[in-house]
Amino acid sequence: MLQEAVQYLKGKVSFIPETGIILGSGLGGLVHQIEVNHKFSYAEIPGFPVSTVEGHSGELIFGHLDGKAVMVMSGRFHYYEDYPMKTVVFPIRVMRLLGVGLLVVTNAAGGLNEDFEAGDIMLIEDMISLLPDNPLRGPNEENLGPRFPDMSAPLDADWIEKAGLIAKGLGLDLKKGVYVGVQGPKLETRAEIRYLRIIGGDAVGMSTVPEIIAAHHMGMKVLAFSVITNESIPKVAKEFTHEEVVAVANLSGEKLVRLVRGVL
Ligand code: 6GU
Repeated sequence: MLQEAVQYLKGKVSFIPETGIILGSGLGGLVHQIEVNHKFSYAEIPGFPVSTVEGHSGELIFGHLDGKAVMVMSGRFHYYEDYPMKTVVFPIRVMRLLGVGLLVVTNAAGGLNEDFEAGDIMLIEDMISLLPDNPLRGPNEENLGPRFPDMSAPLDADWIEKAGLIAKGLGLDLKKGVYVGVQGPKLETRAEIRYLRIIGGDAVGMSTVPEIIAAHHMGMKVLAFSVITNESIPKVAKEFTHEEVVAVANLSGEKLVRLVRGVL
């Protein structure tokens, strides 16, 4: 199925994208900055899954961002949508087989760190998986990567340093921290938030971990950012809605777009 998708795309796209970008909730603004060469709906690509969540359109875009050849996933697959992990990371594997070397992952995440405010951007330095599965379970595809991949540094140190410098240059207060990946689709109880802080989390979300694992398994460099959409440690119980998450992500998305362009 991977080869089918890869052959289909290779037959239609005339360049090798250096960088792959996954657009999370509210970060769709980046699409408008891209000089688009090819656009595919997920549905038309053989083997590709189709996304179901509101606000995710499900398109694979090939083009140039400030002259850099990129391929962009507008709409991603979440484990909570009932996709198997292999489906969640299918597009990442397609990216690698098309020649992508750097993956830039973005998401919306709940803030755990007390120094974070809604609207902050957090560079993911490391991660904790609390997901019940991961994309490498099952027979290992040796031509993709090793059976027991190292995960001592799945986020690339050089790119982390570069992103820090670019943020400084842009006058952007870039936070750094540990992303905890949970299954969802529910948000956290207050007790769960305390627990996630104790185990070392700075932000919590329902995506990104499987994609980083699959990308690192295949030897891609990975850089990842969270838009902090709420301070998930209310003094008193307070409801959060998906609509609020998307609204904050939309507002701060512009900052992250500038940062990603700067880094590329
Ligand atoms: Cl507060 N929790 C989780 N699990 N995912 C999120 C979030 C919170 N905010 C955005 N995504």
